Amino acid sequence: MKLKGKVAIVTGSAKRVGKEIALTLGRRGVNVVIHYHTSFKEAQDVVKKIERMGVQAIAIQGDLTQTSNIKKIVLKTIEKFKKIDILINSASLYEEGNILALSEMDWDKHLNTNLKAPFFLAQEAAKAMLKQKAGKIVNIIDSDVSKPYKNYLPYLVSKAGLVGLTHTLAIELAPHIQVNGISPGPVLLQQHWGPKMIRAILKVTPLKKIGSPIDIANAVLFCLEGTDFMTGAVIPVDGGQHIE
Ligand SMILES: NC(=O)c1ccc[n+]([C@@H]2O[C@H](COP(=O)([O-])OP(=O)(O)OC[C@H]3O[C@@H](n4cnc5c(N)ncnc54)[C@H](OP(=O)(O)O)[C@@H]3O)[C@@H](O)[C@H]2O)c1
Repeated sequence: MKLKGKVAIVTGSAKRVGKEIALTLGRRGVNVVIHYHTSFKEAQDVVKKIERMGVQAIAIQGDLTQTSNIKKIVLKTIEKFKKIDILINSASLYEEGNILALSEMDWDKHLNTNLKAPFFLAQEAAKAMLKQKAGKIVNIIDSDVSKPYKNYLPYLVSKAGLVGLTHTLAIELAPHIQVNGISPGPVLLQQHWGPKMIRAILKVTPLKKIGSPIDIANAVLFCLEGTDFMTGAVIPVDGGQHIE
């Protein structure tokens, strides 16, 4: 897919990895919807940065735990840009919780944000993409789904579901829409993780380094413009953790 002039929604793109993906797309000439939930100011800053690149950007707020917000996000995108070519599902909830203390609410908020929302966003975006018989969807997953660890059960299950969603959407939406996934390893650490945690991460990372959001943005670019002959693929970008 040639990227110049295309329109992309990037969820959770006011900060961190989503922001890097949005900026990378802006640099390639893509008009970008900066979706955010609580990070209003950061979203406005990303919009300004992208506008300075000579393309258009708009910030759209929406809590993805409420499915009704998803139609609004897609509707506002079409009002502004008249089409959608690309959807990047990057927004995510990542909270710790002991298995014996997990509540129905813990379960619902992770599954709703990380799995249900990507599906309904894909469904709404696909309606617009199918009108032009072309589109690309990239789901940002997590390489740890194949090596689960303790205390993050709803998160890890939601991301495992997102692998399944990537495969099934790829079948459902072929041949016009390609659906792929990127599974990051550690590219931006949680702020409360200390040196002990970082040493433990490096121990199970063959490339012996922490990645960067740019590694994820570049992998997204490959899914979008690197080839149109790939769908249903889930690419680990994790310093080799999945084979350790
Ligand atoms: N960081 C890593 O090293 C790493 C490793 C493995 C996988 N990943 C995956 O890569 C993606 C990006 O990672 P990240 O670390 O940048 O993610 P993050 O900081 O944990 O979250 C990204 C954004 O998701 C949005 N979000 C959370 N709950 C939401 C809700 N209910 N409705 C709408 N938006 C919501 C937040 O937006 P607001 O700030 O606007 O509230 C947040 O800024 C995620 O899918 C993550 O699972 C990241």
